[in-house]
Amino acid sequence: MLEVDLAGVKLRNPVVIASGILGVSRGLFLRLDREGAGAVTTKSVTFEPRSGNPMPNVVELEFGLVNSMGIPNPGIGIMCEEIRSAIPHLSVPIIGSIAPSSAEEARTMASLLVEAGASAVEVNTSCPNVSDIGINLVNRSVELVKAVDREVNVPILVKVTPHVQDVQSFVRALHEAGADGFTAVNTLKAMVIDVDLMRPVLGGVIGGLSGPAVRPVAVRFVYEIRKTLPDVAIIGTGGVESWRDAAEMIMAGANAVGVGTALRKGLKVINEIVDGLRSFLTERGLTLDDIRGIVP
Ligand code: DHB
Repeated sequence: MLEVDLAGVKLRNPVVIASGILGVSRGLFLRLDREGAGAVTTKSVTFEPRSGNPMPNVVELEFGLVNSMGIPNPGIGIMCEEIRSAIPHLSVPIIGSIAPSSAEEARTMASLLVEAGASAVEVNTSCPNVSDIGINLVNRSVELVKAVDREVNVPILVKVTPHVQDVQSFVRALHEAGADGFTAVNTLKAMVIDVDLMRPVLGGVIGGLSGPAVRPVAVRFVYEIRKTLPDVAIIGTGGVESWRDAAEMIMAGANAVGVGTALRKGLKVINEIVDGLRSFLTERGLTLDDIRGIVP
């Protein structure tokens, strides 16, 4: 009863592992499959390997995390190897997340990920922690999506930054460029200061805020995207930690929900959300389709 069709990709349930936390290796893909995730998004991958920003690169606050990871990742070649070797043993679909610095890189990385077995591509143009490949590329999202769209025939998702002002124009333009769906939202640019040391806490100084603090922002983005594009695929991501949070995203219009920051407390959150949603729907005699976008 919890199956989801995400732009043509079949998920056994709506809980998608968000990019950035655990989707980095064959072993983790297999583990997340066993834990029952509906889909797994890889860490955003760059063309070349990256070691990331100086430590400390994450700080935990009472309402979420601020990270300045700087896209540490093994590069497209090794990421594809990890996916390729896991795929024969997986029942969960993999969403390959790319952080390209050019249309050429976007095209090449998307094609390699699909060849390795990814079921969809997520284009991340909004990491707050890197100047060359991050949020400064938001204005070029249309160009990057067009490049990917020419190259692959799997669904293309765009990770949406909460710093976009005009959500309607942004998602319309990307949809016309070939985006099949949106993952809303990415982290909010943020900063934390150590008052005793009188210095920024993070090695990268500025970072991205995730977790419960951003949830109402993410719900608003999902709602606005759904009102703009009634048929597009949407993964509602940002502070989802319980089945109620997931239900809220779906009622705002999401097809699926991303879980990232909540995984710091353990993988049991996946099953808690799935079981909670199932009980809620069963008790009320409803389906996911009945509640998706139900709020006026
Ligand atoms: C990173 C952080 C993000 O918030 C993001 O969306 C992508 C990448 C990072 O610094 O690795």
